[in-house]
Amino acid sequence: MLFFALALSISLFQLAYGVQVASTPPMGWNSWNYFSCEGLNEQVVKEVIEAFIHEGLRDAGYSYVNLDDCWQINRTADGIIIPDPKKFPGSRKTQSLDYLSLYAHVKGLKFGLYTDTGYRTCQGRPGSFGYERKDAETYAKWNIDYLKNDDCNLSNQTTCETYKTMHEALLSAGRPIVHSVKASCTTETARTVSNMRRVGQDIRDNWESVLGLIDIYNRDELWRYSRPGFWNDLDMLEVGNGGMTMDQYVGHFGAWCVFKAPLILGNDVRYMTSEVRNLITHDELIAINQDRSDAARLVWRSENGMQEIYTGPLSNERRVALLLNRGNTSADIQLNWNMLPDIVKDTVLNVRDANLRTNLGKYVNFIRQVVNPTSGKILVFSL
Ligand code: GAL
Repeated sequence: MLFFALALSISLFQLAYGVQVASTPPMGWNSWNYFSCEGLNEQVVKEVIEAFIHEGLRDAGYSYVNLDDCWQINRTADGIIIPDPKKFPGSRKTQSLDYLSLYAHVKGLKFGLYTDTGYRTCQGRPGSFGYERKDAETYAKWNIDYLKNDDCNLSNQTTCETYKTMHEALLSAGRPIVHSVKASCTTETARTVSNMRRVGQDIRDNWESVLGLIDIYNRDELWRYSRPGFWNDLDMLEVGNGGMTMDQYVGHFGAWCVFKAPLILGNDVRYMTSEVRNLITHDELIAINQDRSDAARLVWRSENGMQEIYTGPLSNERRVALLLNRGNTSADIQLNWNMLPDIVKDTVLNVRDANLRTNLGKYVNFIRQVVNPTSGKILVFSL
């Protein structure tokens, strides 16, 4: 009985902890997609933090500034992780990332780091296997808010086990830290030991890569798992990195929004075109992502597999749909009311194109929309 009560209170605590740190999909920026290993350094991160303010990212809801691989170089004799003093001169005296963490916090932002659940990171830097407690204590001391935990160079323990070890270490370090893990632990287990799980392979800055990640979301019916405290991570965004057209970036960003994937920017936010800035700070699309309702799911696919419709609920009796056109030619896509959750025949609905910020008017039973080649249209329905 006592054991049962204890177990129940621990899992309630874990649930409350998860909800506390990721009650909606986390929003922020990560260094990897644009700066990779070589380009990451303190000056860049400071300029990114400044850009969060003057480019309106903080006001749009982005808060985490996350360093990916290559910030760390070694461990002390006591096993404490050491930041690379060449890349992060501010860490030289104190052997800590306090300086950058404070730099983010005083601007009202949050700060995140990367580690690996194996012996070494993917770039060969020291991993956290066997050092979970020490690392979690160090992260808490440096006031970090987010930990991306990769899965290269693994030990012979399963990643679900080692992720659990880090999860428990973070809990006992006592600071709320988002725990972001990779796909080699199943979703079923990942949701008990983390706040978000990568659904698959690394994103690339091209349309095929975006579609490949959407395919995994569909194949594994991942919408079933997302809830406050745990989100499907389709990987960091590529919007603004130059490999896709703006139409493709709309499809990419729109899909991440309706799937309630974390919105972690991956571009050089210091220098953006106004088109890119407008898309990533789009209040109506971000509001869909942050809405406390279930993630959208696939409800229709054309015979040739080139068009798809995803729908989901939204707060205030609204519904959302993504009309996805995978193909290279414009597509006329029809959405019928029976594809929307809980909408009965003959209901009159107001339809709005969220991305274009345009009311399309009142419709009954269906709506047809032309969707540009390799893009998506995000529609919001209200009574
Ligand atoms: C990969 C990971 C990337 C990036 C990289 C760093 O495994 O998926 O997002 O973190 O490692 O080495």
